[in-house]
Amino acid sequence: MSADGAIETLKVRGPARALAGDVGVPGDKSIGHRAVLFAAMADGRARVRGLSGGEDNRSTIGVLRALGVQIDDVGRGEVDVVGRGLDGLRAAAGDLDCGNSGTSMRLFAGLLASRAFASRLVGDQYLHARPMRRVADPLRQMGARLEGHSGKKEGEVYPPLAIGPLPSGARLQGIRWTSKVASAQVKSAIVLAGLAADGPTTVVEPERSRDHTERMLSYMGAPLTVDGLAVTVDPRGWDGKLVARDLVVAGDLSSAAFLLGAAAAIPGSRVTVRGVGVNPTRTGVLDALRAMGAIIEVSNERIVGGEPVADLTCTGGALRGIRIAGELAVRAIDELPLLAAVAAHAEGDTTIADAAELRVKESDRIAATAAMLRALGVAVEEHADGLTVRGGRGVTPGVVESHGDHRIAMAGAVCALGARGETVIRDTRNVATSFVGFAPSLAALGADIR
Ligand code: S3P
Repeated sequence: MSADGAIETLKVRGPARALAGDVGVPGDKSIGHRAVLFAAMADGRARVRGLSGGEDNRSTIGVLRALGVQIDDVGRGEVDVVGRGLDGLRAAAGDLDCGNSGTSMRLFAGLLASRAFASRLVGDQYLHARPMRRVADPLRQMGARLEGHSGKKEGEVYPPLAIGPLPSGARLQGIRWTSKVASAQVKSAIVLAGLAADGPTTVVEPERSRDHTERMLSYMGAPLTVDGLAVTVDPRGWDGKLVARDLVVAGDLSSAAFLLGAAAAIPGSRVTVRGVGVNPTRTGVLDALRAMGAIIEVSNERIVGGEPVADLTCTGGALRGIRIAGELAVRAIDELPLLAAVAAHAEGDTTIADAAELRVKESDRIAATAAMLRALGVAVEEHADGLTVRGGRGVTPGVVESHGDHRIAMAGAVCALGARGETVIRDTRNVATSFVGFAPSLAALGADIR
């Protein structure tokens, strides 16, 4: 809600003419969380540049400050973090508010599991509906105390999460954990707990999830090794010090995807987004857009803060429906609502499968995406683990509900670009969790969006 209590909306008027231009995007949300969190655990002061300014990253910064970490705002998207060392956090005076951010809650669960003080992690109504057993089970097996709440699904653990304290002098035990889901949040939580354990800890994933944690912690000198789908931390013989290193956060591919997807959907468009992270564990959206027939050029490739970065140019044309499943679905997990929106503009069916995880994101993204498409006159079938979009039959204007989910709001706006008339996207304040400036960026490319 805005300051006057009204529900915020976005209005999109189509059909959009061909989009054109050259823009940047805010910093990557996943990398931003890790940059400030790991800097807080390091020895020494580090400057983090290129933070998104989005609310999710601000939640992580807020929690760290509550845990006694000095973080100075030194400019737009720029902070100085005074690292307190691996053991330097102190008990907070109250609840630790993760807002809408699942990454904050799960990473902090891992970080706080080894502490001799108690913490309580809370969030907004959407975060309180998200499953935490995936981190509770391994952390408890390591010896941590972690209590959540029961809820919608039998046996599941929901926030708020009460964590710790470990009895003084006690340490977590290293474990080998085979995760049922490919989840970078789960992997990262276990790795962070493992850094403070008495022996090696290994996490094995069914598919490779995003590897920002592995890259950044290795860069800072953590005792971490990767072997196929297994990540191991072994603190034995390590001096327990992470090296404070200045870091520049790459542009967020998950935000750029909405601009590139809009270009793909509107024929004749040519849009460049500069300085975008192209970590291969994240680029499924580019592969999927290419398979649909969009032309994506990658130029000016370089390494920024240990992550590959490039300028991306998308040229829109005739699109065809495709199947997105398996490892491609994992590498495009946050972009699947956007790909479904683009699929409405493609000839034929697009099926998204192996993506049951979408049901437990900021909203049930399978149901919310299907509802968004139906509101815009697109035929869609929902499956337990995905959906099928019947594309190429036209898009009509309508009223779209975000279901409190930034990516549904933005995907709805992209889909509506092809509709003749005005579409209203309702409840869009959440867009600021990840992509501050989404509507102005799309407008700068020529879309009529307010
Ligand atoms: C994230 C991991 C993914 C992703 C989320 C950010 C991260 O979630 O969907 O937006 O920064 O680690 P899961 O770990 O639940 O797959």
